[in-house]
Amino acid sequence: MLLSRLDIGILIVLQHTTTRRRSGNQAPEDVLEGLETTLEDLQLDYLDLFLIHAPLRSKKGATPTPENFLPIDIPATWGAMEKLYNSGKARAIGVSNFSCKKMEDLLAIARVPPAVNQVESHPIWQQIKLRELCQSKGVHLSAYSPLGKARSPGSERPTVLSNPIVISVAEKLQRTPAQVALRWGLQMGQSIIPKSTNEARIKENLNIFDWSIPEDLMAKFSEIQQVKMLRAEFVVHPQGIFKTVEDFWDGEI
Ligand code: A2P
Repeated sequence: MLLSRLDIGILIVLQHTTTRRRSGNQAPEDVLEGLETTLEDLQLDYLDLFLIHAPLRSKKGATPTPENFLPIDIPATWGAMEKLYNSGKARAIGVSNFSCKKMEDLLAIARVPPAVNQVESHPIWQQIKLRELCQSKGVHLSAYSPLGKARSPGSERPTVLSNPIVISVAEKLQRTPAQVALRWGLQMGQSIIPKSTNEARIKENLNIFDWSIPEDLMAKFSEIQQVKMLRAEFVVHPQGIFKTVEDFWDGEI
């Protein structure tokens, strides 16, 4: 099972941005409605894990466009998440796309600590500092886009699967670059959520549990130049609160 450290049956993401939700306003008071809509859609009584999708909300009543985005109100939104946890409708609660700074802000006020921070993580964006912080606080790091395929539109950034170090490790172990990237994630202690609509690739991605990357080859990954693929340029606007992507990620890119 890929989500090895947590007994996660269903992984649901609360959209604090704009897509897949009826309302553009993802204020704390919308959290309960968000969960109930999801439960209704899935015909379930509770979720195993409910995540804040991103540290982002839009101005009340405004269309969720970049100039109308605001930073999340962490204490208020987390308070609403804790209520869901206490009600039993969410068996675990967590966050997604939280920087080290936001994790520290959250951990300072949380009565129920977040179970998970789900972030972009793969050999080209390894999240070393964030992983260390999460591990030291007992927060599980979960990797979306563990093959580094998701990327900002028009991006010319390097790819994980064509990275020379990933390829050379794959050749030495007689595995594919994708398997090596995923196995690296597991050995770093993160859960991985690779997506594929192709049967052969799904099988390939599952075939990573009965072998491992030896320590000397794991060490090679620290030589890989780090580049964030999904920078969230869509939140940036000269009249908005986020003037640069660095503002959104608290300078951690
Ligand atoms: P496909 O559905 O055609 O297999 P990520 O999870 O990093 O965002 O990557 C998802 C993308 O990676 C999808 O486009 C998927 O395409 C592709 N993908 C999934 N598994 C593999 C693999 N083993 N080798 C190459 N590409 C893959």
